[in-house]
Amino acid sequence: MRHLLDTRTLSRDDALLILDTAEDMAATQQREMKKLPTLRGKSVVNLFFEDSTRTRISFEAAAKRLSADVINFSAKGSSVSKGESLKDTAQTLQAIGADGVIIRHPASGAASRLASSGWIEAGVLNAGDGMHEHPTQALLDAFTMRRRLHGAASRGKGLDGVSVVIIGDIAHSRVARSNLWLLIALGAQVSLVAPETLLPFGVRDWPVSIYHSLDEALRVENPDVVMMLRIQTERMHAAFFPNEREYARNWGFDDRRLQTLSERAIVMHPGPMNRGLEISSGAADSPRSTVLEQVANGVSVRMACLYLLLSGERTEG
Ligand code: CP
Repeated sequence: MRHLLDTRTLSRDDALLILDTAEDMAATQQREMKKLPTLRGKSVVNLFFEDSTRTRISFEAAAKRLSADVINFSAKGSSVSKGESLKDTAQTLQAIGADGVIIRHPASGAASRLASSGWIEAGVLNAGDGMHEHPTQALLDAFTMRRRLHGAASRGKGLDGVSVVIIGDIAHSRVARSNLWLLIALGAQVSLVAPETLLPFGVRDWPVSIYHSLDEALRVENPDVVMMLRIQTERMHAAFFPNEREYARNWGFDDRRLQTLSERAIVMHPGPMNRGLEISSGAADSPRSTVLEQVANGVSVRMACLYLLLSGERTEG
């Protein structure tokens, strides 16, 4: 792997390699919180054109635990606000000598553009591009599912036969898209639940079941995993969104719905959460919730991605 741009083109073998390498990283971190020398002398740039808490901090922690030098770049306060283009920004990073660039950008396709442009030689990791993909979020979600559902014996395993119901603002969600392709590659069965206005164009061509009623989806699918999505009001036209009370009643994962889950089922959310809208505090803070585990696992998964892309151990493809 030279870049990590999406999960749609990630093979099952490569996904398992990343997840198993993340297990190694987690084990090392648990044994001794010391830095690994793997990326000593390498420079990693966090290039964020959109806000982030979890992804940016997690990539920074992952790179530092592998002994890389980290440069944080935020569009706010940079020459981007003076109109500097992605090309000129990228060439500036090339001149500085970046080995890896982690990019979050509001435009779908920005990470691929950077990787294929020839502007930089660095490995590119997509940290979320518009409504397209967020591959490391999907990988950390799959890692969390594997650990919760398979326990200590998760290494080498996919998610064959696991039922995952993804609920909410599918239309604007790069997390939903990346999860969908990765989960299918790993053998899971995926169902989507949303009001018609929050389903994306072309969704009926995707290999998923589609529901409008959350209660029906929970009854029919008996899910192992419930994944709630944030309502992305910043990306939507007001006409697409039912009012908040109606949304919470019909599509919110509340305490009553939590009680209907099977014993082994887990509740996920990528964050940031709108408590009381797409998820109740009772569900978000329950023992079934993996919200904080997802954040913690994100560091191990991102260490694995940085190691596999930048260490020079495996650069074909
Ligand atoms: N899950 C996620 O991408 O969160 P941030 O926007 O805080 O990075």
